[in-house]
Amino acid sequence: MTAAPEPMDIAAEDPDRFYFYCRRRKAEDSAAEILTGLRQMPKSIPPKYFYDSEGAALFDRITALPEYYLTRTEREIFRKHGEEMAEAAGRGRMLIEPGSGSSEKVELLLDALKPDVYVPLEITESHLLNASRHLVSRYPWLTVHAVCDDYSDGIELPEALPDGQRLLFFPGSTIGNFEPDQAARFLKHLHRACGDDGAVLIGVDLRKDSDILTAAYNDSESITARFNLNVLDHVNRLTRGNFEPRRFRHSAFFNERESRIEMHLESLESQRVTLAGEDFHFARGERIHTENSYKYTVSGFRALAGSVGFRPRHTWCDPNQWFSVHLLEAG
Ligand code: TRP
Repeated sequence: MTAAPEPMDIAAEDPDRFYFYCRRRKAEDSAAEILTGLRQMPKSIPPKYFYDSEGAALFDRITALPEYYLTRTEREIFRKHGEEMAEAAGRGRMLIEPGSGSSEKVELLLDALKPDVYVPLEITESHLLNASRHLVSRYPWLTVHAVCDDYSDGIELPEALPDGQRLLFFPGSTIGNFEPDQAARFLKHLHRACGDDGAVLIGVDLRKDSDILTAAYNDSESITARFNLNVLDHVNRLTRGNFEPRRFRHSAFFNERESRIEMHLESLESQRVTLAGEDFHFARGERIHTENSYKYTVSGFRALAGSVGFRPRHTWCDPNQWFSVHLLEAG
């Protein structure tokens, strides 16, 4: 791994099969980043701030919603084609998962892929620890190196990882949450992290009827709305701010031209909010852009992966062609 800006503080919790690494972000860095986004026109908040522990819990509920077809469809693809994926990717590789959350998806593939080592990288510490402990106790043959860190500026892995061929796992269509140029940059990070003999297994949501897409981000229980609004509570804590979430509303729609779902928080009235001593004005109806979710075509995504040096080896889809999983080879 390249030199870390700060040394990782390493605490080995289980001497044999559980290692924990944590690189703490300073609250000031986060505050500065948030203020920068809110000074722009249009205003925005980086989507990684969705994931405090409340946000992470709400996100887990989103993945179980009937309208949110993504998780369920991807899970079906793993169930149906897991053995074939393991065959194609090669069994026994070290498995590395940036943004592992509660590590539910990887469980569908562990028995097929049989890695000796699993490396979850996750910003929400509670999720990371719970998931790791669960995996260590459930899979007696598995060693877990858990890394608590933000991967959005690059994937930094501990020096202490064992050697061996790597498989990077990036499910959930999180790649769709990057701008196309950032997505290319992130794929380069994956390419570097997996090495010349490595590969990537990545989930990508596909373009489809806009009613289906729109419903997925506007569920009838308003969990997605709560998830979106929760970012304001998190921002308040990081910036000593006074956002009142009830003065904003969730808005999500499909932008056909850009082929993306856009999520915004819309100000219900003209108001002033103070963050870290700085005043921000919101006109009535003004929106804070909180996230995009780009929807790709299979050929479009394969071309993007090819443009950063990957060889697309195989693509698996569900029968409706709503979701895709790609095996990309680095070499
Ligand atoms: N990457 C997935 C998607 O774009 C999951 C996700 C990220 C998501 N942020 C979200 C889902 C916000 C709903 C709302 O769908």
